Amino acid sequence: MKNVVLSMKKIDKRFSGVHALKEVDFDLREGEIHGLVGENGAGKSTLVKAITGIIPKDSGEITYLGEQFDPQDPKDALDAGIGIIHQELNMMEHLTVAQNIFIGRESTKKGSSWLLDEKAQNQRTSELLKHLNMDINPTTRVRDLTVGKQQMVEIAKAVSHNLKVLILDEPTAALTDNEIEDLFVIMRDLASKGVSMIYISHRLDEIGIITDRVTVLRDGELVGTKDTDKLSKEEMISMMVGRVVYEKPKLKSTVPKGAPIALEVRNLHAGRLVQDVSFNVRKGEILGFAGLMGAGRTETMRALYGADRSVGNIWINGEKVQINSPIDAVKYGIGYLSEDRKRYGLAIGLSVAENSVMASYGELCPKLFIPQKELEDISREYVDRLEVRTPSLDQLVKNLSGGNQQKVVIVKWLIKNSSILIFDEPTRGIDVGAKSEIYQLMNELAKEGKAIIMVSSELNEILRMSDRVAVMCEGKLTGILDIEDASQERIMALATQH
Ligand SMILES: Nc1ncnc2c1ncn2[C@@H]1O[C@H](COP(=O)(O)OP(=O)(O)OP(=O)(O)O)[C@@H](O)[C@H]1O
Ligand SMILES: [Mg+2]
Repeated sequence: MKNVVLSMKKIDKRFSGVHALKEVDFDLREGEIHGLVGENGAGKSTLVKAITGIIPKDSGEITYLGEQFDPQDPKDALDAGIGIIHQELNMMEHLTVAQNIFIGRESTKKGSSWLLDEKAQNQRTSELLKHLNMDINPTTRVRDLTVGKQQMVEIAKAVSHNLKVLILDEPTAALTDNEIEDLFVIMRDLASKGVSMIYISHRLDEIGIITDRVTVLRDGELVGTKDTDKLSKEEMISMMVGRVVYEKPKLKSTVPKGAPIALEVRNLHAGRLVQDVSFNVRKGEILGFAGLMGAGRTETMRALYGADRSVGNIWINGEKVQINSPIDAVKYGIGYLSEDRKRYGLAIGLSVAENSVMASYGELCPKLFIPQKELEDISREYVDRLEVRTPSLDQLVKNLSGGNQQKVVIVKWLIKNSSILIFDEPTRGIDVGAKSEIYQLMNELAKEGKAIIMVSSELNEILRMSDRVAVMCEGKLTGILDIEDASQERIMALATQH
């Protein structure tokens, strides 16, 4: 058996009101890829943050390379050869790719310790990216990259440190299938060089493919560690949630015949990408939007929501409307659940209750000041309904686990009572149990007569939820399929049709 590089014994951590880790044992072997799974809020991120000195553990011991290890901050851990890629992106958006990768250890000109040598730095970055098969320009500003590409830059940055232990906290949530394959090639290569990895993901198929062993946490407790090849997906799920979860495709549309059209879009053009997109959604319908990353689905939704400029014709409940800004969109009853919750969806420094009612201030006013109690009463219903795991409604959103933050965004738009809801990658980073809760909720909303647009990169999700599937490729809508006629193959054919 291979050497144990890192071992954790009885790690315990409490936050006020939450017992996040309960005497958890965990060990990592040399050159192994060790999956870490569990529901939202199970304690995965907390455990790896304890390893990297981001969060101090309350008690327990960490042994690293045979010695006791107590990093005080992430730099300590990095100096010792342990790096982490976080669940939420953590970059200087105004800096270039190269500047982000080499931040704090910039290349300097020969003979100088402080004159920056941008050219050398760009050159090194370009070599690194090429080596990793990433098609990214070192001089592009990070804010101009897609979320997926930003994630790839984070990965490149971590790899550039020559680590012994690399921790990846849900790195694939925003990646395309091709990017994921590239990442796996990089991971296997690192493993063959003796690098040990902890890999956190809610995509259990990926866990089955890429890991050697899997550790399952539930409610801050260790459920067990098993060899991946001896563990079925069903077993893994039941270890995680303590019950069996089914995933079946929708066989036929559940929209009532003759349901009125809630939203009609004709000849929409936006930015340089979106061209001549036309479609409609009926009340009570879930219209799935499939396509490869970069197909223009999010751009189309942003244009619809008035977040980006566009030209085209839009009718809502038969009335021609002009949407020039998100304020207009909200006025017409459109809610938008963004794919990038940190950037567009949440004010993470505010509480759960405040975020919940943020989109509804218009209705709640004219009272300028809303008492805390009232805020909490309004948000409680949905927070409970979605089972958002939070010790209280005044907890700051930044202290919630990633998946629970996503649920708060959903709560926000539910409270707003929008009649047209756009869900852009609604279950990204959400565990299987909570996913099925969100699916059930979307079905209920559709039943109540709301029109729902769901952008998703997961074909399973598209096939399971949609009444019709719109497919985009390179900014154009290449087809709309009734769910009865939709299949992975037909969707992929339309998604790659030029
Ligand atoms: N800084 C903090 N302050 C208070 N509570 C916290 C803090 N960080 C995490 N928690 C709580 O600790 C618990 C474990 O959270 P953690 O982020 O480790 O979950 P996770 O398993 O990574 O979930 P996800 O899959 O949603 O990312 C959660 O209940 C979370 O709300
Ligand atoms: Mg997490």
